[in-house]
Amino acid sequence: MLVINTVNELVKTAAALRGEGKTIGLVPTMGALHEGHLSLIRRAREENDVVFVSIFVNPVQFNNPDDLRKYPRTLDSDVQLIGDLADYVFAPSVEEVFPTPPTEEYHYGPVEEVMEGAARPGHFNGVGVIVGRLLKWTNPHKAYFGEKDYQQIAVIRQLVRICDIQSEIVPCPIVREPNGLAMSSRNRLLTPEQFELAANIHRILEASKQQPDVPQIKAFVESEIGKIDAFKLDYFEIADDLTLQTVNSLADAQGVMGFITVYVGEVRLIDNIRYK
Ligand code: PAJ
Repeated sequence: MLVINTVNELVKTAAALRGEGKTIGLVPTMGALHEGHLSLIRRAREENDVVFVSIFVNPVQFNNPDDLRKYPRTLDSDVQLIGDLADYVFAPSVEEVFPTPPTEEYHYGPVEEVMEGAARPGHFNGVGVIVGRLLKWTNPHKAYFGEKDYQQIAVIRQLVRICDIQSEIVPCPIVREPNGLAMSSRNRLLTPEQFELAANIHRILEASKQQPDVPQIKAFVESEIGKIDAFKLDYFEIADDLTLQTVNSLADAQGVMGFITVYVGEVRLIDNIRYK
């Protein structure tokens, strides 16, 4: 595997490979890699001739400076972990990606107005800025994203439509810790005690499947989360799996999912579950 640090080299390398008729898979990440990321990289490995992984803590998608400052950065061990699972790791500096402040403005429509979009103003525009650039520079046949960030996938699907990008967006299932907690780079910021407590998020969501319909599911999840002192619920929404707009009944949409964000101490964790 080769590490690339400049946009110029990324563009040239990817274009040359395409020219040779190779299929290209891209896995965008912010590093601090775990099995969730590796599952995307393995999938890309299976489905393409050449795999690019990007590692870049994208400042423009953080709406909270403290969150950006605290975000784990572990490039050396990330590169070790990837080993030969990928052919190229693109690990640019902030100046390389943003020699001048970005000016792209994306309007994705209703999918960005709810949940993470509402809770973190500017976040999805920042995601679009970096993912749009990575897709244009690498021009992959397929790009891989995890369903832990389910709304992010919906936004990126809009992005490729808006920008007329031809890459196929491939959603990949959530990988969990043995205790059920969705793997996340942010889990490293939890104390061992918080890590065990955080497993309750998935446990409660699983248990909520026993409830008959949306109002009861909402009441159950809110009350169970409320019983754990270390938790502060940011939001729990039950929504159409395509439009991401909230539903009042399971009968209101063909696919229905629950989306939760909980603060465990200072650490903001996100998860989701399918009801239908
Ligand atoms: P990051 O949080 O590093 O995640 C990179 C990719 O890994 C995302 O597609 C995310 O959904 C996926 N992922 C994370 N945890 C996962 C898990 N437990 N199971 C399956 N997939 C998982 O998401 C981002 O970075 C950024 O927003 C990015 C798309 C790279 C743009 O900066």
